[in-house]
Order: sequence, then structure tokens, then C-alpha cells
Amino acid sequence: MATELEGVLRPKVSPAPPFPPKYMQIANGEMMVIRPIEIDEIPVILEYVQPMIHVERDYYDIVAARVYAELLAQYVHRIQDQYILIAQVDGELCSIVNGRTLKPGIGVSLHTIALRRGLRIGAHAFAAKMEYHMDYLNHEEVMIVAESPIGFRRFLIEYNLEERPETIHELGGVSAYALTRKTFEAARGKLVVGRRPVPDDLLAKANAEILPPSDPPQMPDDLLAATRSMYDPTGTALRAQRLKQEGRVK
Ligand SMILES: CC(C)(COP(=O)(O)OP(=O)(O)OC[C@H]1O[C@@H](n2cnc3c(N)ncnc32)[C@H](O)[C@@H]1OP(=O)(O)O)[C@@H](O)C(=O)NCCC(=O)NCCS
Repeated sequence: MATELEGVLRPKVSPAPPFPPKYMQIANGEMMVIRPIEIDEIPVILEYVQPMIHVERDYYDIVAARVYAELLAQYVHRIQDQYILIAQVDGELCSIVNGRTLKPGIGVSLHTIALRRGLRIGAHAFAAKMEYHMDYLNHEEVMIVAESPIGFRRFLIEYNLEERPETIHELGGVSAYALTRKTFEAARGKLVVGRRPVPDDLLAKANAEILPPSDPPQMPDDLLAATRSMYDPTGTALRAQRLKQEGRVK
């Protein structure tokens, strides 16, 4: 009975061409590999995503919580037609991107998260997933939303995406923006970088082990440093909270 029910609960995965790994030099001179993952690599990635669920800065919390859920859903077979790519430098996990096929010709971008900052690693990983949607999954359009101001600038503005107020994105139920083949081709020369095939030594290192991020986004020591608290220009709410925590006021 349990096995029969599992057959009903488990989505029937549609065949999809693999993403051929690629590599590129990032702004600090290091080489980064972007590749698809195997299902048995998910538990270790979850370990690296989990701490970011508590990082308010730049909306890492909501994005990490959703990425965690989507990776887990892939692991336990509870999401339809999802793909997951990772970026690694010397084996170290630097970015995770995912999305899925909604129906023939239409893709959905789910998330992009960068675990090392300031090197456009997330931008390169996002470009790789758009390349996968357009060149390999053969989608005509990809539906995209932003959950953070940096994401809005990086993806919706840099790619000049088309607003689709009539299309509800499955992520959060807000209206979508679309990457069309035309907008992708206009951005390709400027934003999509990387070479194939990946040299054997580089790919072997990436495939051997997913190493932990060396400098992941973390919770600040001082609550006042949490960027979202900057919406309160005086920081009074957090000061009051800290005074209470320290027992200095009742
Ligand atoms: C959005 C995201 C993927 C972009 O990744 P990225 O292209 O590698 O870009 P970074 O995050 O390194 O940098 C983004 C900006 O923050 C600045 N920045 C933030 N922290 C920084 C740091 N520690 N060092 C240097 N720059 C930093 C950069 O200068 C850059 O400014 P710019 O947009 O004017 O160039 C990444 O910021 C991220 O994972 N954010 C949290 C999750 C999220 O919002 N995902 C997207 C949802 S739509």
C-alpha cells in the first residue's frame, strides 16, 4: 500500500537534456565550474544552505529557506521537473541555482543564491541557468520574480525583462517577469560567459566533493548590523530589544 501510494505522490519526471558543465574565470582570477548535481549530493548541500536560513541580510533568510525546501523536495521526489546547478571554485560551493519546466516551451526560474560575495558569482550562475532554459530545455520564455533588491537589479534590470502583470509566478504568487528568446539573445554577448568542455582536472576536482563555503553570509554579531533594520533609520526598535535582552531595562 505504502509503495502504491508513493507511486501516486511521486511526480513523473519528464526527460530533459543535461546541462553540460562549463567554466569561467571570475573577477579575482580563480576558475569557477558550473555543473548539474546528482541527487545523492543534495544532503551535503542542505547542510551548507541551512545556516543561511537565519541570515536576514539581503534576504538570504527567505531565499535559503525556499532553496532548502526545493532541494529537499527533489531529494524526496516531491517536485515536478526541477533542475539544480551549482557553482564551485576548487570544489568549494559558491552558488546554487534552480528552476523547472512548467510546460513545454515555458520555464520557471526558482532561485539564485551566492555563497561568496562581491565577485558576480550569482550573476554568472543565473546566466548559466538562463542558458540552460533557452539552449538546452528549448524554452521560449522563462518566468522570473525577484525576492530581493539585489536580485531585482541583477536579473530583472540587467536582462531588461518584460513585465507580465497577468501571469502569476508560482513563487510567492506575485506577477512574473519574462525572459523571452529575444531578451536572452540581446543579453547573451554581455552576460553569458564560460567555456566548454571543462578541463579534466578542473571537472574532476568539482565532482570529487562539494566543499563547504569558505566565507558564507552569516548572521551579524550585532543585531543593529542587520541590513533590514536600516529601514528604521534610528535603529530604536533594535536598541530597545538589545537593552531588554541585556536586562538593562524591563
Ligand atoms: C542576488 C545574488 C544572487 C547576486 O549575487 P552576485 O551576482 O554574486 O552579487 P553579490 O551578491 O556578490 O553582489 C551584489 C551587490 O552587493 C554588493 N556586495 C554585497 N556584499 C558584498 C561583499 N561582501 N563584498 C563585495 N560586494 C558586496 C556588491 O558590490 C554588488 O553591488 P552591485 O550590484 O552594485 O554590483 C546574491 O546577492 C544573493 O545570493 N543574495 C541573496 C539571495 C537573493 O536575493 N537571491 C536572488 C533572489 S531574486
